[in-house]
Amino acid sequence: MAQYAAMRSIGAYVPEKVLSNSDLEKMVDTTDEWIVKRTGIKERHIAAKNESTSDMGAKAASMAIERSGIAKEDIDLVLCATVTPDYFNMPSTACIISKKLDIVNVQAFDISAACSGFVYLLSIAKAFIESGMKKNILIIGAEKFSSIVDYTDRSTCILFGDGAGAAIISATSSKKESIVDIHASADGTYADFLVTPAPGSVNPANQKMLDDKLNFVQMKGNETFKLAVKTLTQDVVEILETNNLKASDIPHFVPHQANYRIIKAVGDSLGMTKEQVVLTVQKYGNTSAASIPMAINDIYESGRLKEGDLMLLDTFGGGLTWASALLPFAGKTK
Ligand code: UT7
Repeated sequence: MAQYAAMRSIGAYVPEKVLSNSDLEKMVDTTDEWIVKRTGIKERHIAAKNESTSDMGAKAASMAIERSGIAKEDIDLVLCATVTPDYFNMPSTACIISKKLDIVNVQAFDISAACSGFVYLLSIAKAFIESGMKKNILIIGAEKFSSIVDYTDRSTCILFGDGAGAAIISATSSKKESIVDIHASADGTYADFLVTPAPGSVNPANQKMLDDKLNFVQMKGNETFKLAVKTLTQDVVEILETNNLKASDIPHFVPHQANYRIIKAVGDSLGMTKEQVVLTVQKYGNTSAASIPMAINDIYESGRLKEGDLMLLDTFGGGLTWASALLPFAGKTK
């Protein structure tokens, strides 16, 4: 019998500390008005000093496991998407999260696809399940972006926040419950649009690299903005067309939460209503690979997400990478 992949649960973790726009006004030459007008962001959450990406990922994952009703012992793959791993580059954050959750002797690894990481993980989980290799996969998007942000650079420090989201993807024989489609792609031509230049094999760790601040994220904001709007829109048009759906068939459009202006431009050009578009950027900022699962968790917790509701995920990020996914929520809801 054919085996399909279904999203059984969602969970998220948001660190306690809030960094507001007025806090940032005291740190760099910016204003609350500029930030809200250009990005829609009002505040973001920042992890504690002793709180790592794996700590946040493990908390989101625990919630997703509990809500799925699946025993921890039945999880046979743990995947984490992050560009702010606990360590550069081993052990993987997925291995550390597995240890923290006591999921032992199970395959675990990280992927690096920046903001597209969670949807990339969905495609990997789908392939593992449909091939019959795995049955219950824990996928996690977790970021301590504050660890690579230069809090003297006003063009980036206002954008990013920390957090984590997780889901359980399980095998099902029901086509109705299954992930409908995923498109994922990349183009390294634009690798320099979003980059953390060091440490790595190009710029190994040394004093000069620290003096030159190469360990912090650098972004060509305006160029990224324009490509993001174009790619995110095109991606949705394609996946809807392939599946004979219209924008109005989608109750929950969950775009990557980078900038309200990007989300609005994409939503408007697709003819999406305000009710269809999930928006969390105002309170979390851009949390990279955690942004999509944190947004899904938001509509789960508010009771907006109902069992079987179709979701359209759409993301874009460093690499450059982009991805979209069509899937029903196949777990219990509030
Ligand atoms: O998650 C991955 C994908 N990432 C994204 O999609 C991010 C895409 N980019 C963006 O969201 C926007 O480009 C930003 C919010 C980063 C910047 O907005 P923008 O409208 O593209 O502004 P800009 O970079 O063109 O800068 C306009 C002006 C500049 O001043 P001048 O040269 O016109 O005098 C900047 O120096 O705004 C200035 N500026 C600021 N002013 C006050 C830049 N950052 C700030 C700031 N506060 N924080």
